[in-house]
Amino acid sequence: MLSVNAGELIAARKEGRAVGAFTTYNMETTIALCRAAEAAGSPAVLQLGASAFRHVDLGVLTRLVVDVAAASGASLGVHLDHCRDLAEIQACLDLGCSSVMIDGSHLPFEENVELTRAAVSAGHKAGVWVEGELGAIPGEEDRSVSARPEALFTDPAQAAQFVERTGVDALAVQIGNVHGFSADGGRLDLDLLADIAARVPVPLVLHGASGIEDDVLRAAIHRGVAKINVNAELRRACFGALDETLAPAREDGYHLQRVLNVMRDSVAAAAEDRIRLFAGLPRGGQET
Ligand code: 13P
Repeated sequence: MLSVNAGELIAARKEGRAVGAFTTYNMETTIALCRAAEAAGSPAVLQLGASAFRHVDLGVLTRLVVDVAAASGASLGVHLDHCRDLAEIQACLDLGCSSVMIDGSHLPFEENVELTRAAVSAGHKAGVWVEGELGAIPGEEDRSVSARPEALFTDPAQAAQFVERTGVDALAVQIGNVHGFSADGGRLDLDLLADIAARVPVPLVLHGASGIEDDVLRAAIHRGVAKINVNAELRRACFGALDETLAPAREDGYHLQRVLNVMRDSVAAAAEDRIRLFAGLPRGGQET
């Protein structure tokens, strides 16, 4: 069911947990993410990367993900990630997305405020929550390159002003995080995060969580991060499983369904582990 609303993120921040948000590409990864949330018994957000629409028709992918997530018994959200285009936001709202992100982080501050306000107005009209970004997160959402966090970090005072002027429901911050696996193991400036959290009342979002140590992620949650985006780690798990499957499946009469099942199951296992970590639930024999 599509029930991850703004209240869910506010509750998560208050309770010192975070909701995992995972990029989905096709039917297998979508079913995988639903199964992960069902197995963990904890909410999750399925993300449509705006960059995916270069490869798959927006309507086809969005309808698929909304339909599959709505039919699941888990508490889920379907979220448009890193969108820079208001028409695309409206199209996804019309197709039933339960939240959207407008990414104006490449723009000068005033232009980011203006674009984000317009997206917030469209989102709220549709009854959904809207995420904005201040401070640019380097790297590509779809590929794992050794990006470095040289881009502008989020300024706490500016972040408070940004949230007040735009009305965003959640704010993505840049505190050393990068998309993909970072060259330095993903060091985060936790003092900066605490400073931002002290001034910003809405739940904070950490993008680029792949490769960041579990303890650092726990510390970030403790300081106000209530939504954590993961993509590269799931892709790596999927590729690892496919490496072991392709040759035997080829031998087994080009058994494509076997390959697709492995894609689904590897993503489900990796996502469930992250959902449990972020929710503070036991995972694979460990306490949290
Ligand atoms: P990673 O690929 O580093 O996990 O980042 C995903 C992300 O932030 C999507 O917005």
